[in-house]
Amino acid sequence: METWEAITSRRNIRSFEDRAVPGEHLERILEAGRRAPSSRNWQPWHFVLVTERSQLGELSKVWRGAGYVAGAAAAIALAAAPPADDRQRDVLQYDLGQATMAMMLAAVDLGVGSGHSAVADQEQARAVLGLPADRFCAYLIALGYPADGPLRPVRRPDRRPYDEVVRIDRW
Ligand SMILES: Cc1cc2nc3c(=O)[nH]c(=O)nc-3n(C[C@H](O)[C@H](O)[C@H](O)COP(=O)(O)O)c2cc1C
Repeated sequence: METWEAITSRRNIRSFEDRAVPGEHLERILEAGRRAPSSRNWQPWHFVLVTERSQLGELSKVWRGAGYVAGAAAAIALAAAPPADDRQRDVLQYDLGQATMAMMLAAVDLGVGSGHSAVADQEQARAVLGLPADRFCAYLIALGYPADGPLRPVRRPDRRPYDEVVRIDRW
């Protein structure tokens, strides 16, 4: 798939076919995250891949907006050390976003849909994922083949108008 097609085809998928994603495709997606840029190349992330149906079900309980993770073929949990201060917290969130987008675009390229989920219940996430005490789960990325058919470029994305968002040279 062309890069532009991948960018325009990505959207949050919250309903998935009951079909596994091949292991080498999951590895490609994880590798895209590993290669993501980060501030001073500190690479603050750990990625925990979950494919077990019962484990996905337990993971879906970490947040009321995570219910759909139960029906995904897989999920990647983004874990990190708690930030030391506000500056590190901001950079961590930025860098996790970069890794997330890299993985989501790699997924589209393979025809795999993805969806974000926040994580509220850290104890539940810790229990399901076996995280050590000095790590927390920042986000989940659900993965699988979209139930409503293959990913295609979104013609009319739900976005603010280009001219409202973009300024040339000066505000
Ligand atoms: C930081 C972040 C957290 C999100 N958390 C959730 C979530 O908990 N549950 C969910 O269903 N979608 C979540 N989303 C998905 C957004 O709602 C979605 O990206 C946005 O509505 C735009 O839709 P699109 O991705 O289909 O273009 C999250 C997205 C981001 C960037």
